[in-house]
Amino acid sequence: MSIKIICHMITTADSRIVTSRWDLPADFDISGVYENTAAQFNAQGWIVGRATMSEYADNISEHQPSLAQQAERPDFKGAYREGQQLAVVFDLKGKLTYDGCVLPTGEHVTAVLSSEVSDVYLYELQQQGISYVFADVQDDETAMLKSALDRIQLMFPHVQLLLLEGGGTINGAFLKAGLIDELSLIVCPLLDGAAEVQNFVNYHGPADPRPGAGQRLELLEHELFAGGTLYLRYRIDR
Ligand SMILES: NC(=O)c1ccc[n+]([C@@H]2O[C@H](COP(=O)([O-])OP(=O)(O)OC[C@H]3O[C@@H](n4cnc5c(N)ncnc54)[C@H](OP(=O)(O)O)[C@@H]3O)[C@@H](O)[C@H]2O)c1
Repeated sequence: MSIKIICHMITTADSRIVTSRWDLPADFDISGVYENTAAQFNAQGWIVGRATMSEYADNISEHQPSLAQQAERPDFKGAYREGQQLAVVFDLKGKLTYDGCVLPTGEHVTAVLSSEVSDVYLYELQQQGISYVFADVQDDETAMLKSALDRIQLMFPHVQLLLLEGGGTINGAFLKAGLIDELSLIVCPLLDGAAEVQNFVNYHGPADPRPGAGQRLELLEHELFAGGTLYLRYRIDR
């Protein structure tokens, strides 16, 4: 069975997602609302893009990697402890470096890489106990994403459900690939308004005028939180 994907995001009423730009009341616990809503799913972890992961913790930093086409190498299961959630990051070029394989919030870091990354980079990940899988990177982005999920499930067979938690770029790729099963949106009573600020889905792949075509939303749940924040949960039917 393939991994179920629920895209879980917090947005303004105009779908923007950069929370550092928001003027929220002092008593609005944004991460509490986001994490408590996520917890209802009992997922085995979450997925983010490289940009979102680079902001996640102080001990994650970014460098410019030296890339070259390399021979095929095996996936690697690091120091995963039973019961830990996974923090899956799509970092195909291997830009991120870490200080250990466990995030401050307790998840086990699992990187999705391309075969262009160097052996030196892989050695560093291994020394830290970080798990990694290789995505089959060719022209077909859908096949790339599916292969990554398949390899994650092969390495961690208990994984049935992962939350896709942004940013807009990785969410857009998953939408275009038809891999999002549900949307879980917390919509705050705010407007951002700036054209250059990311939406919760921002498809940047090969030209496609309608990456969401053929995908209809069925409302599963809605709830009004204190202060006018709205919770919406949809199934995506294809
Ligand atoms: N409000 C919320 O719920 C929420 C949640 C998460 C993030 N955010 C915000 O979202 C912003 C970041 O969003 P973003 O859209 O710029 O970045 P992102 O999706 O986090 O990361 C984009 C990067 O991830 C890698 N990537 C993503 N999709 C890929 C694909 N299909 N194939 C290969 N690589 C892929 C690429 O890395 P390379 O460029 O290295 O190849 C790409 O540049 C931040 O401001 C963050 O705070 C908000």
